[in-house]
Amino acid sequence: MDTETLIQYKAWFSNYVKTFYYTNEKDQKNIELKEIHSMHVYENMTNIAQGVFDTDDEINTASAVGLLHDVGRFPQYAKYKTFKDAVSVNHGVLGAEVLAQDGVLRELSPALRDIILHSVKYHNAYKIPSGLTPETLVYLKMVRDADKLDIWRVFTEEIFTQSKTDRPSAVMLGFPVTEDYSKKILKAVYSLKLAKLADVKCENDFKLLQLTWIFDLNFKKSFSILLERNYIDTMVDTLPDNPELNGLRQVLKDYCSLQINRDSGKTNV
Ligand SMILES: [Fe+2]
Repeated sequence: MDTETLIQYKAWFSNYVKTFYYTNEKDQKNIELKEIHSMHVYENMTNIAQGVFDTDDEINTASAVGLLHDVGRFPQYAKYKTFKDAVSVNHGVLGAEVLAQDGVLRELSPALRDIILHSVKYHNAYKIPSGLTPETLVYLKMVRDADKLDIWRVFTEEIFTQSKTDRPSAVMLGFPVTEDYSKKILKAVYSLKLAKLADVKCENDFKLLQLTWIFDLNFKKSFSILLERNYIDTMVDTLPDNPELNGLRQVLKDYCSLQINRDSGKTNV
C-alpha cells in the first residue's frame, strides 16, 4: 500500500468516527477512548512492522490494519451502547463488514483487500482460525500484538489510575470491584496459559486475564515494548498486595526475556 492511500484511510477513519460523536459526556468518552486507541494501535503496528518488513508498502499496510482494526466498535456502541461483544455483536466481524460495505478498500488489489479484511475480522478471535494465507497471518498476528499492547496502556494509564466515576463506563465490562480473585485464573497465569473471559468473575480476574494475553504475543518487538513500558509491574501494582500475586512479576518478566532471546532465525516473529 502506498503512502498516499494510507493518508486517505486516515482521513476516511477520522470522518467515519465523527459520525458517531455524541453531545453527552458519557457516550462521547467511550467513543473517544476507541478513537485514541485506534491511533495508538496504528503507531504500535508501524513500530513492530518496521522491525519485520523491508518495504514501505508492507509497513503502510500494517499501519492501515492497526488504524482500521476497531472500526466495528463505533457502530457497535451506537446500536448497543456497550463494548461487550458477548451481549451485542462481534466487533471484528462488524468492522470487516463496514469496510466491505462502504467500499473503503476498493482501490486495493483483491489480495491486499483480503489481508486487511481478514486481519480486522479476526483481530479479536480467541484463536486464530485455520485456512488463512501465510501473508495474512503475519498482519493478523501483528495487529493482535499491537492491540494488546495498547489495551495495557488504556488500562494502566486511563482506567486503573482514574476514580471509578471518571472511567469510561463501557470499558470495564461491568465486573464487580472486590478484593477477590479466582484461583483458576491465577493458575492460568502461573501455567503460562491464556485465561478465558467466561471464567472472569470480578475486576481482579479481568486484570489477571489481561496479563495472560502476554502468552499470546507473537513478535519479539512486542515483548520488548511490553517490558519498556513497564506494563507488568503497573498492572500487578493495581492487584491486592500479597506474595502469590507479587510473584507474578518475575514469572511474567522471565517469560518475556525468554521470548526476546529465543532463536528464531532471520525473522523477528
Ligand atoms: Fe478490537
